[in-house]
Amino acid sequence: MKNLAVAGTGYVGLVTGVCMAENGHNVTCVDIDEQKVKNMREGISPIYEAGLEELMSKNIAAGRLHFTTDYQVAYKEADAVFIGVGTPEKEDGSANLQYVETVAKQIAESVENDCLVVVKSTVPIGTNDNLEKLIGDSLVHNVRVEVASNPEFLAQGTAVRDTLEAARIVIGTESEWAENLLTEIYTSFNLPIVSVNRRSAEMIKYASNDFLALKISYMNDIANLCELVGADIQDVAEGMSYDDRIGNKFLNAGIGYGGSCFPKDTSALEFLARQYGYDLRTMQATIGINNEQKLKLYEKAKQRLTSFESLKIAVLGLTFKPGTDDLREAPSLANVPLLLEQGADIYAYDPIGVENFKQFYAEGSHGQGNITYVDSPENALEGAAVCLIFTEWGEIRAVMPSQYKELMQSPLVFDGRNIYDLQEMADKGVEYHSIGRPT
Ligand code: UGA
Repeated sequence: MKNLAVAGTGYVGLVTGVCMAENGHNVTCVDIDEQKVKNMREGISPIYEAGLEELMSKNIAAGRLHFTTDYQVAYKEADAVFIGVGTPEKEDGSANLQYVETVAKQIAESVENDCLVVVKSTVPIGTNDNLEKLIGDSLVHNVRVEVASNPEFLAQGTAVRDTLEAARIVIGTESEWAENLLTEIYTSFNLPIVSVNRRSAEMIKYASNDFLALKISYMNDIANLCELVGADIQDVAEGMSYDDRIGNKFLNAGIGYGGSCFPKDTSALEFLARQYGYDLRTMQATIGINNEQKLKLYEKAKQRLTSFESLKIAVLGLTFKPGTDDLREAPSLANVPLLLEQGADIYAYDPIGVENFKQFYAEGSHGQGNITYVDSPENALEGAAVCLIFTEWGEIRAVMPSQYKELMQSPLVFDGRNIYDLQEMADKGVEYHSIGRPT
């Protein structure tokens, strides 16, 4: 058992802290927000994540999981401090390292024991070398502090499972002391460990995320071509997936990748490459295709209808993917403003994303358009002239093809997630437009 501190209680920080406690470590999570800390002490998570609150309560009760705003106390005697704060994208596409650097300085001020600083946040290659120097220069006590890279591979919605049952733990260290300490911390997880140097670990994270983003953009590119040549991307993906060099995951064409990771990490690597004088053409193409793909539903609907003026439009799904309330880079946020601008009367449904969406578009009128939030897909579809599907939530998949016919004024559906079988929709008399498939 080690004494661990975790900086940041977002997706990465909080899930790391909770899973470390679940594996027997004594963990203190630090956040600057008093109210958030008060809630977390009572087992209330600031983010929605399946299974997280149960594990929080269990480990708080067991006395292994603590929350504080007092970073000095948390870091003072920690064997390791995990950094899980955000590295959002700056306007120029580079990663904003201000939060990571602030935490690094706070650690340097506070530590009174030898301590390993473990960076879980996604940071550009070389950042951890700089952080180690920054900490070394600002240390108050004469102790040994090293920085390790330990990138996180969790996905939102399945974060707890992804952490406890990770495919691999990547640790990037520059000394045997750091490697041994971090390996020991992870021993009880009983997972494969890939031990490399710090820069390789940093690159593994970007290369992994960007490869997945590339895979999605590639499938979207092929989907667009499928529409032109009369092929069906679902069948194409299935045919490809039997080749285990290709695999059967991340082959779903749709309306592009969103979220807090792929958009930011593709831009950051492309930016980093340019700084080294290298054109990372794979990422340039990936980003370009994704930006266009996000507007595919709007464009298809526009072409079919010419005007959205006073048209009742059912919008099903707002979040960037199911299982999360996160709207960052969600395709809905790219399409809804265009529909509102053109006078659409939107009825939007999302099982958990509505409150966040209201922060962008409060219920009521916006210019020529209007948005109303409803509590079921059926209420959104009632009397609608068009339906746009942005997220493949289970609640939305559960809508039967016949319901579109029964509930809508005219059964015209644009599906950005290829939820339905073409034949079934046709049999029920629904005009169905999806991605990369015949209409
Ligand atoms: C992603 C990675 O999957 C995680 O491994 C990684 O740790 C995480 O980023 C991160 O860097 O923190 P996440 O953004 O939560 O996780 O979500 P994904 O499930 O990967 O989905 C990302 C986007 O890709 C979604 O908008 C999803 O709709 C889209 N997607 C995914 C597709 O369009 N097609 C697919 O086949 C798969």
